[in-house]
Amino acid sequence: MIRLFVNVDHVATIREARKTIEPSPLKAALLAEKAGAQGITIHLREDRRHIQDDDVRLIREEINTPLNLEMAPTEEMVQLALEIQPYQVSLVPEKRQEITTEGGLDVCSQEGMLSETGKRMHDRGILFSLFIDPDAKQVDASKRVKADSIEINTGRYTELVSIEGIRAELERIQASAGRAAEKGLKVFAGHGLNYENVKDIAAIPEIEELNIGHFIVGQAVYGGMENAVTEMIRSIKAGRGNQS
Ligand code: PXP
Repeated sequence: MIRLFVNVDHVATIREARKTIEPSPLKAALLAEKAGAQGITIHLREDRRHIQDDDVRLIREEINTPLNLEMAPTEEMVQLALEIQPYQVSLVPEKRQEITTEGGLDVCSQEGMLSETGKRMHDRGILFSLFIDPDAKQVDASKRVKADSIEINTGRYTELVSIEGIRAELERIQASAGRAAEKGLKVFAGHGLNYENVKDIAAIPEIEELNIGHFIVGQAVYGGMENAVTEMIRSIKAGRGNQS
């Protein structure tokens, strides 16, 4: 079965709208775990628009499943990760003005810096993952910088509307997943996934882990976190053909 890591950033987004203490991303993370999430993901953005440094420390301490920390590859973030020591760090590109992560990392153009960052993570026993677009060149570069895994950006796939466009993007994702697995990289995916579009992604056999946030938190507003996570797990299982 694919592991579902639930991203609780947007619980913090609601809290930060009022700069108060509720709702709590930790409480949401614990409910997600209760419903079967195998991990929790948070993105500490440079502008701290949702998750705050103290959230990272608290969630790292209190959750019962692995913590995946998404962050930009900056020295400030690297220092924080080395201090807090999550189970895994996922490096993502970050632009201050963007509403959400807009694309994958360009690994090819920064191999030296990423190799060095990966080594610093590995020296602390932290797994090192790279969020990339489904592109053979980026997969190959991820292997060269000794990433443990790639997370394939499904954002474009989830935004396309034409059947042909969706099919072509899925083929790119499948090809990248296959290429990465052949090279010994673990393969994850995420961005923009919902109960429906997750199914074709879950059907790709090389994909071991999914990071899903915005849609789950949105559904939780209507029916609660546990129901939203349970329903997402049901969709993932349906997509994978109930393999375990
Ligand atoms: N993976 C990465 C690298 C992300 O930046 C995000 C968004 O924070 C996600 C997955 C989850 O995307 P969504 O919130 O659209 O489910």
